[in-house]
Amino acid sequence: MYGPKGHGSGSGRPAPIPKKITVPEIRARKTSGPPIAMVTAYDFTMARLLDEGGADMLLVGDSLGMVVQGHPTTLPVTVEEICYHGRAVARGARRAHVVGDMPFMSFQVSPVQALENAGRLMKDGAFESVKLEGGEEIAEHVRRIVAAGIPVMGHVGLTPQSVHAMGGFKVQGKGEENAARLVRDAQALDEAGAYAIVLEAIPPDLAEEITAAVSVPTIGIGAGAGCDGQVLVCYDMLGMYPDLKPRFAKRFSEVGEQIMVATRAYVEEVQARTFPGAEHTFKPNGPRRVTPPAEPAVALEEIPPHWQTH
Ligand code: KIV
Repeated sequence: MYGPKGHGSGSGRPAPIPKKITVPEIRARKTSGPPIAMVTAYDFTMARLLDEGGADMLLVGDSLGMVVQGHPTTLPVTVEEICYHGRAVARGARRAHVVGDMPFMSFQVSPVQALENAGRLMKDGAFESVKLEGGEEIAEHVRRIVAAGIPVMGHVGLTPQSVHAMGGFKVQGKGEENAARLVRDAQALDEAGAYAIVLEAIPPDLAEEITAAVSVPTIGIGAGAGCDGQVLVCYDMLGMYPDLKPRFAKRFSEVGEQIMVATRAYVEEVQARTFPGAEHTFKPNGPRRVTPPAEPAVALEEIPPHWQTH
């Protein structure tokens, strides 16, 4: 039920294994569609559900620092943590392509550092591609990783690893100069060989301009409907934060509310002793037959006196 075998039909037989979505297929979506639906995932069970729901790509984002670990930023996340979550998500993703975020300070230092850590994500995290935040300044890093045969997704606009430099989680690319810089950043990633580029929190007309200016798919979050795909943090998409309503994050369900309602019902039933009922309880043993104690294998007097307790 819980393991990879339980994936699918519920008939007892394993469901047929769907074909994995590949990087060339993702690239081709730019011209042939349909728009790419990407969502974050951090564990096996959620990955399995999102995969069965038809998500094309699962991103093990460093957002896990905030939504899984409870930090105020993504900065504390480590390569080891991304790899740990990556392995769990990979077990649940039968069709979706799985992308791993390169965490803060795992690639910024140099192209060589970026290549080494991208390699760790592929080997230890079971990822199929990696994502890096940044523009022109990391184009050489992207080139080196791509040259090693590792597909790279770019990420420009609001780049949460630069939250302190940006003065908070704010919309980017406002004004002529900032907009032109973001177009150049996206083009630099395209030229360096990125296979897709995330556009986060930028005006929709700028997102459309970038989408037209690059040869690879753009995947928007808070960037309007003109991108070649969309990405959301799964907990936002599912409505897991009843009090948090970011403008860009449509809640496609109210799972958070449902979890609280279910928990209240569980607590009440435990306290009232109505759970577990007979249907949740195993067959009783029945009355115990008292069996006489077995004859000792050796007569007591044969046991040496210093071993006898009485
Ligand atoms: O870390 C993350 O989840 C992301 C997405 C929001 C694009 O980078």
